Amino acid sequence: MVVKPLKKNSDFVAYIYEIDLSKDLSRELSLQIDELINNYAVLIFPNQIITDKQQVKFTQLFGKIEESGSKSNITKPKDRRLSTKLADVSNLDKNLQLFKRNDPRRIFNLGNRLWHSDSSFKSIPAKYSILSGKTVTKNEGNTEFADMRAAYDSLSLEMKNKVSELICEHSLIYSRQRLGFDMVKELGPDEIKNFIPVEQPLVRTIPMTKRKLLFLSSHIGKIRDWIRPDSMCFVDDLIEFSTKTEFVYSHRWNQNDLLMWDNRQTMHRVRAFDDTKQFRDMRRTTVLGEEKLI
Ligand code: OGA
Ligand code: MN
Repeated sequence: MVVKPLKKNSDFVAYIYEIDLSKDLSRELSLQIDELINNYAVLIFPNQIITDKQQVKFTQLFGKIEESGSKSNITKPKDRRLSTKLADVSNLDKNLQLFKRNDPRRIFNLGNRLWHSDSSFKSIPAKYSILSGKTVTKNEGNTEFADMRAAYDSLSLEMKNKVSELICEHSLIYSRQRLGFDMVKELGPDEIKNFIPVEQPLVRTIPMTKRKLLFLSSHIGKIRDWIRPDSMCFVDDLIEFSTKTEFVYSHRWNQNDLLMWDNRQTMHRVRAFDDTKQFRDMRRTTVLGEEKLI
């Protein structure tokens, strides 16, 4: 395994070469990767030809798999293209047809264009995500990552104090509301129960590195004890601050790139592409967090 940081002396984003993730990895190697993801927050493994099963196995080296189901998307089980061990981040239905413009599944997926941290709306949020690019879009559809440690570090002392005690409410309903997609209207009362807001601290510390960071996401719709409009203004300001170009890496995909990111330490989003015309087949596995934060 060869590790090459994106920039000299930078601790954000590293390329990893000379490793084959389709093979069984030794315990030692998986511990090394775990340390790398804690330190660099985003790892890029180019040219990994890997089956879904192998991707699941690689993911399980780092913890339990977060299953994809009724708590994280609106696709019915009978309509799934992939196993529930994978989150289908493509724009394809199970017959490999592109979603039509008004398909609720397409509109729901547009939520990935907003800055977010995967499953921050679950009581135990995701730890790592692993995304393999099977069919990629070349000139558009970049995936961008923002370093939430660097963002926290550059807050003023006054702001660090202010955010230190704040608790945010996260829900998919809130992020989809930003797109004008009203999940309460689209889903029945039984389904909507899956998306009740959960509370997360705004500041977290990574146990391995002891670094502090802002745990932000477009899934946030309210701060505890604040009214919603004040909450939204405050959170949007923080998201804008944290996603300045100096904190952001934009990944232009090559086929068979496999990206691994730490949802605790980063936000990410996909940029626009012509998703009703271009195929983009991306498959995500997710490592479940270890515990509730509150
Ligand atoms: C995800 C996600 C972005 C992309 O897989 O969690 O947000 O580029 N994907 O598809
Ligand atoms: Mn995501």
